[in-house]
Amino acid sequence: MVEGANGPRWIIEGGRPLSGAVDIGGGKNPALAVIAASLLCDEQVTIENLPYIEDARVMLELLECLGTKVSRCGRSAVIDPRTVCRCAPRRDLAQALRASSYLLGALLGRWGQAETPYPGGCDIGDRALDQHIKGMRALGAAVTDQYGVIRAKARRGDRLVGAEIYLDMVTVGGTINLLLASCRAKGQTLLFNAAKEPHVVEVANFLNSMGARIKGAGTDVIRVTGVDSLHGTSYAIIPDQIETGTMMIAAAATDGDVTIRGCIPTHMEALSAKLLEMGVRVDDHDDVIRVRSTGIRRALTLKTQVYPGFPTDLQQPMTAMLCAARGVSLVTETIFDSRFKHLRELARMGAKAQVMDRVAVIEGVPELTGASLTATDLRAGAALVVAGLMARGATEILNPHYIDRGYEYFAEKLNALGARIIKEDSREGQAEAGA
Ligand code: EPZ
Repeated sequence: MVEGANGPRWIIEGGRPLSGAVDIGGGKNPALAVIAASLLCDEQVTIENLPYIEDARVMLELLECLGTKVSRCGRSAVIDPRTVCRCAPRRDLAQALRASSYLLGALLGRWGQAETPYPGGCDIGDRALDQHIKGMRALGAAVTDQYGVIRAKARRGDRLVGAEIYLDMVTVGGTINLLLASCRAKGQTLLFNAAKEPHVVEVANFLNSMGARIKGAGTDVIRVTGVDSLHGTSYAIIPDQIETGTMMIAAAATDGDVTIRGCIPTHMEALSAKLLEMGVRVDDHDDVIRVRSTGIRRALTLKTQVYPGFPTDLQQPMTAMLCAARGVSLVTETIFDSRFKHLRELARMGAKAQVMDRVAVIEGVPELTGASLTATDLRAGAALVVAGLMARGATEILNPHYIDRGYEYFAEKLNALGARIIKEDSREGQAEAGA
C-alpha cells in the first residue's frame, strides 16, 4: 500500500448538509471476533451480514492460511475449520490487525496450542495483552511471550481447565479471548470484571449457538461451562455500532437530517444523549434512528468509558464535530493514551484544540476551512471525513486506506446522502466519484 502524498486520496467538497436514509452494515469488531471463534467449531459455520471491509477480508485470509476452508459470497461466508493444519497464523497478516490476537484464544481452546505474533492494528497508544496471557495461564496453559511472539500450550494434554479469572482492568479483547479459550475447557470458568460491550455479548451468543454454555455476557461476571464439542451454526452479525454513530455524527455536523436504518438504538444511547445535550434532535424506533439538526451545536464535556459509557471509537469523529460547536468542550480519553492525533490535523483547518495528556480542550470556531490532511488510523480517518464534510471548501485526505479497514462503502454511502467525496487512486488522477 502506497502511503501519504503519492498514494490514493479522497477529496471532499464540504458544506453540504446530509439528508436521506442510509443502511448500516454488519459490525466490524463483532465480525472479526466471530470469524476467529468459528475455528472452535467441529463442523461447518455460516456467517451472514459480514461487512465489506478490509479487516474482515484479512481475518478470513488468516483462517484460510491455517488450513480452514473459507468461501465468501457477498455478505455470507461459509467456514469449515475441520481442515485446519497449523496453529501459527501468517505473521504479515496477523500483524495487520489487532483482532488477530483472537486466534490465540481460539486455537488454544480448540487444539491446545497456538503461536501468534503480537497483533498490529490502530496506533492509538499502548495495547498490551497481559490480561489475555494471565487468563490463559490461569486456564492451565504454559505461555511464553518473547521476541514479539506469544506461544501457548495446554499443560495437560490438549485441553484447558476452567478457572476463576479476575481481570485487572476491563478489556474487550481480553474478555473475548478468554471466552474463546475457555468455552471448550474442562469444567467451569468464572470471568470477573468482564467487558460488557455489544461484541462481547455477540461472541457469547455465537458460541452458544454452536452449543457452548456461556451465561452472564453483558454483565461484569461471565460464567462459562466448558463443553466437549461445538456443532455447526448459521449466524448473522449485529449492525455496526460505530458506523451507526459515525453516521449520526456526520448528520449532526453537517446540519443535516438523516435516517439511519438497520441499527440497534440501545447501543447508541451514550451518543444520542450527548447529541441531545448539544441541541441536536434524535428520535428512534425499532431499528431506526433519525438525526436532525436544529441549527444549534453546543459545546460539551465528554469522557470516553467502557460500555455503556461513551465509546472511545466515537471520540475522534465526535471531537471533529466539537471543533465547530458553540463554546469550549472538554474531552477526556480514558481508554487509550494516544487517541487525539486527528486534532493536530484538524488544526490545519482552523480548529483550536489543546491536548494535555488524555484531555483535549476544544474551543469551537464558527467554521472549519478545507485543507490537506493525513489519516493516522481508522477512526482518525473518519474524524477527518466528518471535518471535511463540515468545512468550507475542499479537503484532501491522504491515507484513506485506514478508513476502508473498518467502514464499508463509506464515501459511497455519504455521497448517496448528498456529500461530494471523490476517491482518487493515484496522483495521475483516475477519479472515481462514490455512487
Ligand atoms: C477493542 O480493542 C476494539 N478492537 C477497539 O476498536 C476498541 O477501541 C476497544 O476494544 C475499546 O472498546 C477490536 O474489537 C478489534 P481493550 P481492544 O482490550 O480489545 C488496555 C476500532 O477503532 N489493556 O478493551 O484492543 C489497553 O492497552 C478499535 O474499531 C491492557 O493494559 O481494547 C487499552 O488501554 C480500535 N492489557 C485498554 O486496556 C490487556 O491485556 C482497553 O483495551 C488488554 C488491554
